[in-house]
Amino acid sequence: MPHQTLWSGRFKEPLAEIALNFSSSIDLDKLLYAEDIGGSIAHVEMLGACKILTSSEMRRLRTALKNIQKEIETGKFQLTGEFEDVHSAIEQRLTQKVGPLGGKLHTARSRNDQIALDERLFLRSSIREISKLIVNLQRVLLYKAEKYFGVLMPGYTHTQRAQPVLLSHHLLAYIFMLERDFERLQDCRKRLNKSPLGAAAFAGTSFPIDRQMVADKLQFDGIVENSIDAVSDRDFIIEFISACSLTMMHLSRFAEELVLWTTKEFSFAQISDAYTTGSSIMPQKKNPDMAELVRGKTGRLYGSLFNILTTMKALPLAYNRDMQEDKQPMFEAVQTTRQCLFIFAHVLVHTAFAKEHLNEELRTDFLTATDMADYLVTRGIPFREAHEITGKIVQYCIEHKMYFGNLDLETLKQFSSKFEGGIFEVILPQKSVEHKQSAGSTNPHEVRKQIVFWTKTLGKRRV
Ligand code: ARG
Repeated sequence: MPHQTLWSGRFKEPLAEIALNFSSSIDLDKLLYAEDIGGSIAHVEMLGACKILTSSEMRRLRTALKNIQKEIETGKFQLTGEFEDVHSAIEQRLTQKVGPLGGKLHTARSRNDQIALDERLFLRSSIREISKLIVNLQRVLLYKAEKYFGVLMPGYTHTQRAQPVLLSHHLLAYIFMLERDFERLQDCRKRLNKSPLGAAAFAGTSFPIDRQMVADKLQFDGIVENSIDAVSDRDFIIEFISACSLTMMHLSRFAEELVLWTTKEFSFAQISDAYTTGSSIMPQKKNPDMAELVRGKTGRLYGSLFNILTTMKALPLAYNRDMQEDKQPMFEAVQTTRQCLFIFAHVLVHTAFAKEHLNEELRTDFLTATDMADYLVTRGIPFREAHEITGKIVQYCIEHKMYFGNLDLETLKQFSSKFEGGIFEVILPQKSVEHKQSAGSTNPHEVRKQIVFWTKTLGKRRV
């Protein structure tokens, strides 16, 4: 039997059961019970302070709300589908416990400002958790960058081998990307951390409430000034999901690299058995499923972003029930981003890079062709011409099944008289990275600087 709704007065008939089932959001918004009760307690205390409730009414309501929280947490009170939403469920339980006084909780409040409050509180703590997970992943990356400092790998453009770089340089690139993700979340928090409570349905209330007091109690940085804005917008959720989508995009790119690097074809890295899976038919298989799932789950975030953007598009002000549909993308985004950051850090801890193999791959290729061309430039040949000459040498090597390492000076001189003995050092992969001079380059000194910077920055970071 459905419980009574919060609004039955003007209706001759109760809500049809199938209409309730269709419109109830409790299966999702029950996750907001703690925020909802925390918000109600702050509201009740403010009503007491403003003499809208007597202090004994305030205390009775507050105690009962705390008890309901315990009842939910111990399973004594279950938030089931017979309620319209988490707010109705808690208010009805309150009335069961304290009688008609329970009906005073909603003085100067609407579910419209209440849900906006719950969501802001929920996302504020989610931002904190996700930020911590980002920092954790950054620390794992830094640990690996430190551990493999000095190891060279082929860098790629177009997924074609391009130039040698330090593996640490590559790993550090992700630390920088994650840093921007971290900053975006902190920025999002600034705009989100304002209290909408007191907007009531949307027009405000005739009771002499103190919105700032509620905001202070709940550690908001202020109130959402305009009461219509306070209940109408969900831009803070969209901003949050958009920030998480970028984080997932970064994770997905790294996941893709792990998938490639752990193939036999690349053999750059190995993920330990505990973080890989087998095949039900092919006994030899070892699959990088965790990385693949991170890559795959990125779609959920993009889906959530488009979901809520589309829901909000063209909604007239102020509240519309459509907005209840914001829960699914919001929870989905939080849960998936959290899960993926968490597992990815573990996968990375348990990934070993194949130093020797990477070295060998660099030796048997032409990754220092740019260095050869640059060498000719330092000897007076215009870069375009030097590029052409080097290209011809690569072509010669391919035709003769050779690598740069097999060339002798006599052969090189046939391509340009400017070649001297020094070229053989220039085309060593190790020298290639050492000769880089620009800030932020793969030169080991530059990479070391970045490691030092991140060790300091992440070492003292508290989220
Ligand atoms: N469950 C609703 C939601 O999430 C709460 C607000 C309901 N307001 C209303 N006027 N029906 O949007």
